[in-house]
Amino acid sequence: MGARIGIIGASHVGAHVADVLLARGIAEEVRLCDLDEKLSRAQANDLVDAASYYQRSARVVDCGTRYEELASCGVIVNAAGHVAASATSRDGELKVTPAEVRTFAHRIAEAGFEGVWVSAANPCDVVAYALWRELDCDPHRIVGSGTALDSARLHHALADATGYDQHVINSWMLGEHGFSEFACWSHVSVGCLALDEVEAQAHLTLDRAAIEQDACKGGYITMAGKLCTEYSISNAVGDIVDAIVRDAKIVTPVSTLVEDVYGVSGIFSSLPCTVGAAGVEQVFVPEFSASEIEGWHRSCAHIKENIGQLDWL
Ligand SMILES: NC(=O)c1ccc[n+]([C@@H]2O[C@H](COP(=O)([O-])OP(=O)(O)OC[C@H]3O[C@@H](n4cnc5c(N)ncnc54)[C@H](O)[C@@H]3O)[C@@H](O)[C@H]2O)c1
Repeated sequence: MGARIGIIGASHVGAHVADVLLARGIAEEVRLCDLDEKLSRAQANDLVDAASYYQRSARVVDCGTRYEELASCGVIVNAAGHVAASATSRDGELKVTPAEVRTFAHRIAEAGFEGVWVSAANPCDVVAYALWRELDCDPHRIVGSGTALDSARLHHALADATGYDQHVINSWMLGEHGFSEFACWSHVSVGCLALDEVEAQAHLTLDRAAIEQDACKGGYITMAGKLCTEYSISNAVGDIVDAIVRDAKIVTPVSTLVEDVYGVSGIFSSLPCTVGAAGVEQVFVPEFSASEIEGWHRSCAHIKENIGQLDWL
């Protein structure tokens, strides 16, 4: 069974998410909105032209700025943003992108939307928090894509450093989807082995600080060349939407409401979560090392500081 998925923001991220959802057969219908109605019409038309090549038939509907037409969707992806302002840091979007949720969130809620929001727009943790505050809804219905993509970047960096396939590496970036995030080294595994065991037996000495920086800043290699990222984020969002549609209960890092985690509460930040039909169904708290606790506190303080800069929140 596929699903009807709404997407707000039909530029690089939104259009690529649509393509992933259709190519992987996750969606049976995609509804696209964008402030730029010519763009949403164009993207919808291009996607319909691709329909013959997808494995299953699916519908793509251009909804322009008629946000209410997303109310019957099971999941809505928020990709409405201003990526040019993120050219050197996602914080560059702080004053422009979180405010966009005020243009559509209420309209969609009042039209009867009862599904799950998956929010990718940046700064991701602040935008997810803004959605929650605007809607005053069950926070589990709001899933920030958070460090899902950054964790894939950590797989990439570790695969480059070790030569192992990304699929056998289980490694997580946590905290902010931004420069204050940190690698949860205490829980990295390769196959069933702890990273320390792999280093000892494979005679490897990993430069963990450099690998962590590669994961944290890797998106900016992409940004430098094409002023956006799209394939990686669209597949990260595709996995999250798929987990919701199939009630798959994957455990993945996403941005969620933090409630008393090492003394932090009341913001959105990434932790390992179970994602299923209800959105975030369980939040796990890893047993952090002392330096990871410091990293968590530093990262959450940065998110809090950003939220504090928005007087309407
Ligand atoms: N979370 C992640 O890992 C991740 C990765 C890549 C990009 N992003 C973020 O995703 C967002 C989208 O990225 P992009 O490259 O597509 O950006 P973009 O600037 O190219 O496009 C954003 C689109 O959103 C539309 N938009 C803005 N406000 C809107 C509103 N109120 N209603 C409807 N549409 C609206 C714009 O018209 C534009 O077409 C940005 O905030 C970007 O930083 C996040």
